[in-house]
Amino acid sequence: MILTMKSCSSRSRGRSHAEVTAMNHSFLRRMALLAAIGFCCLAGCAEEEPETVRIGVALYQQDDTFLSTIVQNLEQQAKERETADRKLNLNIADGRGSQAAQNEQIERFLKQGYDVVCVNIVDRTAAAVLIDKARASNVPLIFFNREPVEEDLMRWDKVFYVGSDAEQSGLLQGGIVRDVWKADRGLIDRNGDGLLQYVMLEGEPGHQDTLLRTENSIKALTKAWVPVEKLANDSANWQRGQAHTRMAQWLKQIGQQVEVVFANNDDMALGAIDACFEAGMSEDQLPFVVGVDATPPALEAIAEGTLKGTVRNNASAQASAMLDLACALSAGEGLNGIEGLKNGKYIRTEYAVVTPENLDEFLP
Ligand code: BGC
Ligand code: CA
Repeated sequence: MILTMKSCSSRSRGRSHAEVTAMNHSFLRRMALLAAIGFCCLAGCAEEEPETVRIGVALYQQDDTFLSTIVQNLEQQAKERETADRKLNLNIADGRGSQAAQNEQIERFLKQGYDVVCVNIVDRTAAAVLIDKARASNVPLIFFNREPVEEDLMRWDKVFYVGSDAEQSGLLQGGIVRDVWKADRGLIDRNGDGLLQYVMLEGEPGHQDTLLRTENSIKALTKAWVPVEKLANDSANWQRGQAHTRMAQWLKQIGQQVEVVFANNDDMALGAIDACFEAGMSEDQLPFVVGVDATPPALEAIAEGTLKGTVRNNASAQASAMLDLACALSAGEGLNGIEGLKNGKYIRTEYAVVTPENLDEFLP
């Protein structure tokens, strides 16, 4: 500014004092106007710059089928929620089953000043340390799918859990088998002895869903006076390949006797079906196999008739609940408007039975 003024006064040499003063005044007015326009423009531009909400998502294992369904939902819904003034930026980290690796990933999110971190914790008992670190950086944590104990979640009011009610999924899964037993027993009781012979493929030991699904699927039968006989049970850690191996072993040992396969998730149910086909069974000879999740490959298997039913674990509603929380927290809004939030901490979505009869309602 000062430099411009000097050069201006040098150009006015040879004019009268009044002329020069008038010119200087009009020049100053124009300069002031230009400066004002420039300032408004800058301020306007700053206002138009969209705010970016940065959300870190730490997965226990990215290749888990159910979790990849959650991630797909998060990515799609985050895009749908973007507006001219708000961008949602998701950064997904794969813990590959290691708590130590996941801790580092989460610490990085905290250091980089993410607005919120969503945690699918590898080891459910390791939450306290992470919560204390997040609290020190004042970054809210949304745990999901793998539930820390309540005592840990109570350490800070900016810690939440999004998931579902495992007991309900077990009861509904058992209910599918119970209803068929009651309506057309011959479809299940192949040997006609009046007993339901089953094997149980369990998820990871220590996971809240493993224990509760295993227990409640059978409870749904025994409560309805269906006599059951357990032939075998083992963990296959949620994985199709491991379930395939367990089932192949059982088929060798007790093959013909297995009437029902309960699997704590769809991937393991599909692994059991793989093993049956590999052992040379035809579709008619397959045992009655049920899963949980309603993942896309499981819905396909229901359509083909190899999987008899599943229980939808609502990945889309869980992703939506996580984004509701993340957006409200990053905007510093209160949480009163958040749908389904209980005790200021928990959002649990409802499970739903999926069978060939209502499959259409669940197809994408
Ligand atoms: C799902 C499983 C998944 C597990 C991972 C469960 O709720 O049903 O499919 O492998 O969560 O934590
Ligand atoms: Ca029987």
